[in-house]
Amino acid sequence: MDYTFSNVSNRIVRSEIREILKWTRKPGVISFGGGLPDASLFPLEDITRITAEVLEKKGYLALQYGPTEGEPPMLEALSAHMKSYGDDTTPEQICITSSSQQGLDLMGLLFLDEGAPIIMELPSYLGAIQVFRRCLADMRGIPLDDEGMDLNALVKELDKLAKEGKKPRFIYVIPDFQNPSGITMSLARRKELVKISADRGIPLLEDSPYRELSFTGETLPSLWTLSGGKGVIMMKTFSKTLFPGMRMGWVVADPFVIDKVVMLKQSVDLCTPSFTQLILAEYIKQGKMKETLNKAIACYKPKREAMLNALEKYMPKEVKWSKPSGGMFLWVVLPEKLDTKEIFMTAIEHNVAYVTGRPFHCDNSGGNTMRLNYSFPSIEQIDTGIQRLADAIKEVL
Ligand SMILES: Cc1ncc(COP(=O)(O)O)c(C=O)c1O
Repeated sequence: MDYTFSNVSNRIVRSEIREILKWTRKPGVISFGGGLPDASLFPLEDITRITAEVLEKKGYLALQYGPTEGEPPMLEALSAHMKSYGDDTTPEQICITSSSQQGLDLMGLLFLDEGAPIIMELPSYLGAIQVFRRCLADMRGIPLDDEGMDLNALVKELDKLAKEGKKPRFIYVIPDFQNPSGITMSLARRKELVKISADRGIPLLEDSPYRELSFTGETLPSLWTLSGGKGVIMMKTFSKTLFPGMRMGWVVADPFVIDKVVMLKQSVDLCTPSFTQLILAEYIKQGKMKETLNKAIACYKPKREAMLNALEKYMPKEVKWSKPSGGMFLWVVLPEKLDTKEIFMTAIEHNVAYVTGRPFHCDNSGGNTMRLNYSFPSIEQIDTGIQRLADAIKEVL
């Protein structure tokens, strides 16, 4: 059959990272590549028990179609969960999604036309770049420093766009323990960014999968909270804080924006499964979420420590890295002359893998960068793997 595919499907190319990650299956390779949670944290017993309870008591609801915006007990549970992190949110401000990747897809449908300018961090989350690229958005990258997005550079870019008669549809940021860099936006920057967004009438998309995974006990106010819920759309997920297998996420926004998101979601998948929503609503109601998060933090904090120590111990002095205070990733910058894509096979020969940094840059820069994940490997693997990585880098240096 001679299929005539859509322009969108013809534009989609295989992800460089997926190709690279195939190598991580080579026996003996220690991988810092994926973004997987540590599976030993998955609360199998509680989920097994609650699943049986839900089927017994609410089976008729659990196996039925549900409201597009989400099951009322889940909306209530999420509003309570967010309040416990200082983010005042009502059920009317929430739409459940099939994890935050669907939230991002819906944002593409909601805001983007061909050539529409948007602002994002350099580097930023690869999955978001894929969505925005598919929508043919005009992505403008703003560099990060240790305090988050460089707001002087942002203002310059906004002024430049204004001169061209253009206004970005949104500014996409990941303020807490960013993927891929591990950087957290400072409070001063958050306040300033919210002000810029309000003054110029540009919405903020706040992607927030890692917010609850703080190693210091401190969580800075979200952009959602700082803006009083006006002009900010927040995307949340349980993929990193609990587990990704149920594909459970939610979008938080002004009710009139939620209304539009709900209409769009109807055309995408009608609703997120009631079954999994009722299970997780019960999980939160039974107070299990805090317990799980405490376990995750207790698991990841020493792994972060182990990775920082190993980098200090083994890496040549020309190599720099971020020092995340939460989340799952840290970011490594090699001397400019090196390209992490070219070094990748040398690393595989040394039985270690990472993901290259370029695909996280909407402008295709960042060839000398890489992302390392510390949530999945064990502490022993982290030490051995970083030593191997340092050996590979020394070899090419
Ligand atoms: C910043 C960010 N947004 C969104 C996602 C998508 O996650 P999920 O669809 O599993 O919720 C990820 C996953 O790594 C992420 O890091």
